[in-house]
Amino acid sequence: MRSRLTGTGSAFPFNVLTNQDIEKMVDTTDEWITTRTGIKERRIASSDDFTSTLATTAALKALEMSGVSPAELDMIIVATVTPDFPFPSTACLVQNNLKAENAAAFDVSAACSGFIYALSIVDSFIRSGKVKKALVIGAEILTRIVDWTDRNSCLLFGDGAGAVLIEADSSPGILDSFIKSDGSCWELLYQPGPGNRNPASHKLIDERLNFIRMQGNEVFKLAVRAMEDAALKTLSAGGFTTDDIDLFVPHQANRRIIEAIGKRLGLPDEKVFVNLDRYGNTSSASIPIALDEANRTGAIKTGDLVLLDAFGGGLTCGAMSIRWQL
Ligand code: UT7
Repeated sequence: MRSRLTGTGSAFPFNVLTNQDIEKMVDTTDEWITTRTGIKERRIASSDDFTSTLATTAALKALEMSGVSPAELDMIIVATVTPDFPFPSTACLVQNNLKAENAAAFDVSAACSGFIYALSIVDSFIRSGKVKKALVIGAEILTRIVDWTDRNSCLLFGDGAGAVLIEADSSPGILDSFIKSDGSCWELLYQPGPGNRNPASHKLIDERLNFIRMQGNEVFKLAVRAMEDAALKTLSAGGFTTDDIDLFVPHQANRRIIEAIGKRLGLPDEKVFVNLDRYGNTSSASIPIALDEANRTGAIKTGDLVLLDAFGGGLTCGAMSIRWQL
């Protein structure tokens, strides 16, 4: 048995935060943000939005497209670094919201590569015959762990969720995947607390340890190299070259990172999907959000070879080739 994608969905908070809004918060300009990142605006959660509620809305849309009922699901994985709670998992909350009582539900933490990691896990379960129908969701509320006084990072991130429905099928949708991590560089991008090392305390708040810390420039350079490598490994494992790609759907972190990889892979602009101008970097949600938009707008067509590619905190990276069958 192989994995076939049969539904996509996405969900966003209502509120929009523009670059002009950020100009009023830190020393920056719309011009700097646009030229350095490509981002124009991002969605920002209100106090009654949770990662689980965004994930549930995206999941319902993917279920509706596929025609699968929640009771048929064997597995639900939520990729996230901004769960509702340390435990239980956000996936268990989604399971409860959906009333998907027959599913195993758990979260995957691989930062911006989390969706590809989660999809690889489901693909392995489907190939083993143990899972027939599964939901993979990437969902984040990053704006709650962003340091709004740090102009180096606060403008990058946004909130949202994307979901895909996977079903066992004799014809393959997911062709190949590659995932890899490098824990030696964990300090380049992380959230110091709350956790074992920095438990919840006044000190944590005073020292702003509950917010994302990032050495953007270093991450940028490593991202370009690692994403190119992951893309080429996945393609060659499936017997493909970059000429075979119909649509490249990379993690949406920075337009310059995406352009650099597209150039290294020799891809024309029309084969590279970009929507970060409207959503910013939504970490594990960015690829399923992009896939849902590409699917619903016709940017991906049946039979297309789609290449996913991501890089993030950990450090982690991953790529996946998919024959689109929707
Ligand atoms: O999701 C995966 C993980 N995250 C990423 O992939 C993010 C990767 N990194 C990036 O996207 C980029 O590194 C940033 C957008 C974060 C920064 O862009 P950059 O071109 O690497 O800028 P930089 O950090 O090298 O800073 C260049 C200059 C500095 O000024 P000096 O030292 O040259 O005078 C910064 O102080 O830009 C300055 N700067 C800003 N200026 C205006 C930094 N942030 C801002 C700002 N507005 N918001």
